[in-house]
Amino acid sequence: MNIIFLGAPGAGKGTHAQRLMHKMNIPQISTGDMLRAAIKAETELGLSAKRYIDAGELVPDEVVIGIVEERLAQEDCKNGYILDGFPRTVAQAEALKGFATIDVALNLSLPDEMIIRRLSGRRVCLKCGGTYHISSLNGREDCEACGDKLVQRKDDTPETVQNRLNVYNAQTAPLIDYYEKEGLLKTVECLGTVDENQAAVEKALNL
Ligand code: AP5
Ligand code: MG
Repeated sequence: MNIIFLGAPGAGKGTHAQRLMHKMNIPQISTGDMLRAAIKAETELGLSAKRYIDAGELVPDEVVIGIVEERLAQEDCKNGYILDGFPRTVAQAEALKGFATIDVALNLSLPDEMIIRRLSGRRVCLKCGGTYHISSLNGREDCEACGDKLVQRKDDTPETVQNRLNVYNAQTAPLIDYYEKEGLLKTVECLGTVDENQAAVEKALNL
């Protein structure tokens, strides 16, 4: 199954995509994680993407479209994948049609005030993409999955989060209508615990 995870920053795309990846044995393709890995490795892509990400702006369409097209051509995507954070503009969705067939676009929905709470307490592993919230870490500072040190994302400051929400509303939210019209949209209200929301995600996917 080829799945898109839509949703505002902090909606839980990464959290649920990771769990689904293990359950379905298909890769999670997070453009945010790929771009952060490029920044860490100081590649040309990373250097050009850094200023957009740190400011909470979108990286230019042609850059992300190129990396996703290349990634989907790899062997491990043959049996399906979860796109986490792509597409984020109508232009990206149109380009995706040229190199992928999507089965479902899952929209993770929740109110803005919950988003701010979630993002301000988030800790991430830049090595394996593990995502945690300080409320459940009990003081732990390393990743449960790979042992790497957990860090706070640079774009999780209150001002940048607000800008990311504005950018989401202006540029990404129109994709909800777009995929509705394509007949691919399913919406999951993500107001519960991670386990409750995961169950709702799996139900929406008929798993
Ligand atoms: P990206 O990394 O995709 O960030 P985002 O869309 O802002 O989404 P987040 O990763 O912040 O949130 P999430 O939905 O994954 O939530 P999570 O599961 O972590 O993109 C970053 C940047 O890269 C962009 O701003 C842009 O610059 C660039 N970029 C990426 N893709 C691009 C594209 N296609 N085009 C152009 N530019 C692009 O959960 C959040 C927190 O909540 C965690 O701490 C988690 O533990 C916690 N949590 C989750 N669920 C629950 C729950 N039920 N209860 C309590 N806590 C919970
Ligand atoms: Mg994420």
